Amino acid sequence: MLRGKNILIGISGGIAAYKTPYLVRLFKLAGADVKVILTDSASQFVSPLTLATLSENPVPSSFIKEDDQGAISWNNHVSLALWADFMVVAPATANTLSKMAHGQSDNLLLVTYLSAKCPVFIAPAMDLDMYKHKSTKESLDRLAAFGHAIIPAEEGLLASGLSGAGRMAEPEHIVAFIVNHLKGLQPLSGKRVIVTAGPTYEPIDPVRFIGNHSSGLMGYELAEYASKLGAEVVLISGPTSLVVADETIKKIGVGTAVEMNKAVLAYFEASDIFIGAAAVADYRPTHVYDQKIKKESLANPNIELIKNPDIIAGLGKIRRHQFLLGFALETQDVLNNGTKKLQSKNLDAIVLNSLEDSGAGFGHKTNKVQFLSKKNGLKSFPLKSKKAVAIDIWNEILKEL
Ligand code: PMT
Repeated sequence: MLRGKNILIGISGGIAAYKTPYLVRLFKLAGADVKVILTDSASQFVSPLTLATLSENPVPSSFIKEDDQGAISWNNHVSLALWADFMVVAPATANTLSKMAHGQSDNLLLVTYLSAKCPVFIAPAMDLDMYKHKSTKESLDRLAAFGHAIIPAEEGLLASGLSGAGRMAEPEHIVAFIVNHLKGLQPLSGKRVIVTAGPTYEPIDPVRFIGNHSSGLMGYELAEYASKLGAEVVLISGPTSLVVADETIKKIGVGTAVEMNKAVLAYFEASDIFIGAAAVADYRPTHVYDQKIKKESLANPNIELIKNPDIIAGLGKIRRHQFLLGFALETQDVLNNGTKKLQSKNLDAIVLNSLEDSGAGFGHKTNKVQFLSKKNGLKSFPLKSKKAVAIDIWNEILKEL
């Protein structure tokens, strides 16, 4: 959610300012670009140098700046505000809250806030009775009415020695609050999505297996984009070398089709959308040898196979509200074979890809697909990166929903 976001942190002068370097660090670790502005009194509590080092950006605190030659220029609060995808005022003292609520602009933080068109998150911090005071409550109500998100202060020991509500939310809680809030604005917010990806490996003996060329990339891109759209994502992956960058995705690694089926069934009931992008082996060896088979030991090296469960067809039988999207990897007669799979497996839609198209299917970072929907018919897409294909597929699913 925060990867690539421009986050502007405004720090006002309260003791909780000492926690803000950690907040900067959490945002940076999440892949965001962070800029910080301080009020003069905040710089008594936390060093601008620490914040500049951690944010990897200069930290302005006044309207003007002076370069090495003594030349004076202004800190452009308007461009700073326009740069931000969102602004976080943390800690927001009673003084800063009141000034924000009433349009006062006597420091750089306040003028930047007044110039900001982006979402604003406010984490108040002050002593117990100040937090309870009607005037603070009035400021917070007014700021909430402006459409800003208030991150509630937490309870605990306060700098005065008193104990109660007024502590700035812990940095981890501020990050979690913002992520949840941003997710709430997303089209898949509140939806649970399962994506299967990669091949399955069906063991013959401890060394050999029956598998296929799926790299998992198509499924991983679908999972990552679902998460960007706000979904809670479970990615059930066969053996691949891919890693999931998005830590909110729950990845479950499996080996065989039977293991994949078991993992899918554990999450299916509570899910809303299922996408079967995995290349599941249709058959597995009837017998798995305990030891490596020696060349000499088999006079007639035939491997007897039995059918694996058809995972998505099984879901087609037990589905209730869930949306089911399958894939069909074909080598010929794509539309005919895909249509049969769509109907026989009781799916809502199926993505067709064919090894006849160069750059499509597995073994490539690209794919060329057709989206065949029971409701909306067929839509064809040109060859694109699998990341771009995942976006096209999600756009089609959103239309279906
Ligand atoms: O992983 P990549 O290298 O990025 O490649 C992507 C891909 C080519 C693997 C992907 O785009 C794709 O087409 N996945 C489905 C491949 C496949 O197994 O197709 P199928 O036509 O055999 O299966 C049809 C559908 O039934 C699929 O949704 C499949 O997941 C599902 N199935 C199949 C067999 C089985 N036993 N259980 C299943 O659930």
